[in-house]
Amino acid sequence: RGKRAFIAGVADDNGYGWAIAKSLAQAGAEILVGTWVPALNIFESSLRRGKFDESRKLQDGSLFEIAKVYPLDAVYDTPEDVPEDVKTNKRYAGAKNWTVKEVVESVKNDFGTIDILVHSLANGPEVSKLLSETSRKGYLAALSASSYSYISLLKHFLPIINPGGASLSLTYIASERIIPGYGGGMSSAKAALESDTRVLAFEAGRKKRIRVNTISAGPLGSRAAKAIGFIDTMIDYSFTNAPIQKELNAEEVGNTAAFLASPLASAITGAVIYVDNGLNAMGVGV
Ligand code: NAI
Repeated sequence: RGKRAFIAGVADDNGYGWAIAKSLAQAGAEILVGTWVPALNIFESSLRRGKFDESRKLQDGSLFEIAKVYPLDAVYDTPEDVPEDVKTNKRYAGAKNWTVKEVVESVKNDFGTIDILVHSLANGPEVSKLLSETSRKGYLAALSASSYSYISLLKHFLPIINPGGASLSLTYIASERIIPGYGGGMSSAKAALESDTRVLAFEAGRKKRIRVNTISAGPLGSRAAKAIGFIDTMIDYSFTNAPIQKELNAEEVGNTAAFLASPLASAITGAVIYVDNGLNAMGVGV
């Protein structure tokens, strides 16, 4: 049978999550997605109204299906963790069972198991602030949404990921080099995510032979990236300075994810894989 993938962090057809879903679908996987609760209605209605049909097209012309969209807020592990103001918030009130634990229970009830887990989400409320001007609250929020959310997803999904499965996340080189503008503790959050990738690779590998890798992606003008504000500058910088001078296509990240999730990558785990036209290898901009 084909593999089944759960991709957390898809709310439109512009980001890396969507591109990964598409590449996995192209490779024959069944696709489940987790969509941030406040973005759920617009994502589902856009899907229904055919707004994404052009980008749903596979190589043979058919449109890939999302078997199910689950509302998700990866900042909360269980219903007990959800504060009153979020519970009663209009943008959350319409949806049900969207904490990590509940989403995994729903997936288990609906499908039994998965083979591939993808974490393609990040959030840093103070991303536009310098690290040295970030509040404790903002810093911890960045880590909670962008790093711990991955530990939580993997922890809860682990019992229902089939042995031999694979797990992936998305990171950014600001974890290891200075990228002014990627503030609010987001650089710290990506450093944690990369370190956790190694430790989780060990733990999930020994427990269930599950491989855990992260893709360090180059700049893409996604919704999240536009919110940071410097994405066009980063795209231009990469185009000018990378070894391969071309635009980075989200599909290239999607295809790498499909490779990493496949048996072709059966000995790759605990790795940070760069998909950035080689920009990471440069020492100076030229
Ligand atoms: P995106 O906007 O397509 O994806 C981010 C998603 O996270 C959105 O769908 C958003 O609704 C969701 N999200 C935010 N908080 C959430 C929460 N608490 N629970 C559940 N979902 C939540 O943007 P993009 O850029 O494709 O981001 C995907 C991943 O790629 C992120 O980890 C990002 O840091 C990473 N990345 C992006 C780069 C870029 O230049 N766009 C470069 C390198 C890495």
